[in-house]
Amino acid sequence: MSEILKVRNITKSFGGLTAVNKISFDISSGETVGLIGPNGAGKTTLVNLLCGSYYADSGEIEMDGKFITRMKPYQRCRMGLSRTYQIPRPFPELTALMSVVTSALCGKKRANRGFDDAAAEATHYLEFVGLFSKRNILARDLTFFELRMLELARALATTPKLLFVDEVMAGLNPGEANRAVHLIARAKEEFGLTIFWIEHVMAVLMEAAERIIAIHFGEKLAEGTPEEIANNDKVIEAYLGSGWRKTNSAEQSA
Ligand SMILES: Nc1ncnc2c1ncn2[C@@H]1O[C@H](COP(=O)(O)OP(=O)(O)OP(=O)(O)O)[C@@H](O)[C@H]1O
Ligand SMILES: [Mg+2]
Repeated sequence: MSEILKVRNITKSFGGLTAVNKISFDISSGETVGLIGPNGAGKTTLVNLLCGSYYADSGEIEMDGKFITRMKPYQRCRMGLSRTYQIPRPFPELTALMSVVTSALCGKKRANRGFDDAAAEATHYLEFVGLFSKRNILARDLTFFELRMLELARALATTPKLLFVDEVMAGLNPGEANRAVHLIARAKEEFGLTIFWIEHVMAVLMEAAERIIAIHFGEKLAEGTPEEIANNDKVIEAYLGSGWRKTNSAEQSA
C-alpha cells in the first residue's frame, strides 16, 4: 500500500500551550486509522492542521507526494482531502440540497461540474445519508442528527480520497450513532476512501480501524493495531482506564 499522507514533526502552540507537539505518522491509501486520546489531547487541532484550518508552527505534511503544509484549505480539498466537524458547521440559511451543492462545486472534480451536475451529485449524496426527503429544508431547521448527516454528505460531495471524521457519534443516541458508524463504513467501501477517524468509543475503532494512534498532551503516546493499543499500558493509564482491560478481556474470553 502506498502512503497517501505523511506527517512529520507537526507542531502547533496557542500562546504557552503546545496543543500538538512534534507528531509524526503515515496513512496508507485505503486504510482506516483511528485517533484516540483524552479530552484536550489535541485531536481536533491535529485535524485542523492537516486540513489547513490552522497552519503548523513547524513540521511538514505531505499528501500524494506533494507538500501541503502551507496550502490553503480549499487547495487541500481539491487534492482530495475532506473532513466532518465535531460540532456541525452548517450554512443555516441554505437548504440541505444547496448546502451539498456548494461542496459539489468546490471539490476535486470541480472543473467538470456545472450547476446541474452538482445538483444531481448533491442529490445522490443526500440519498446516501438518508436526507433526500429533507432536501428543501433549511439547515437551521434540521435536527442535530440530520445536521451530522448533512456534514457527512457535504464532505463526501467534494469527492475526497482521504476523509477526516471528528467524533461522528458525539451527541447522538445509540440508534443514531449506530447508523452514523454504518454509513462511514459504507462510504469507505462505496467511494474507495481512506479514513482518519477520531472517536471516543473504542469499541467502534476496534472494529473499524486497522491501526490506531493514541495522543496525550499533544504528543504521540502509541501507535499500533487495535489489539496492541487496547493492551498498551501507557494508553490504558492515560486514556482507557484499568476497567477497560477487564471488560476487554471478558469480551475476548466470552
Ligand atoms: N483556537 C484555539 N485557541 C487556544 N487554544 C486552543 C485552540 N484550539 C484548541 N485549543 C486548546 O488546545 C488543546 C487541544 O484541543 P483539541 O480541541 O485539539 O482537543 P481534542 O483532543 O480534540 O479534545 P476533545 O476530545 O474534547 O474534542 C486544548 O487545551 C484546547 O483548549
Ligand atoms: Mg476534539
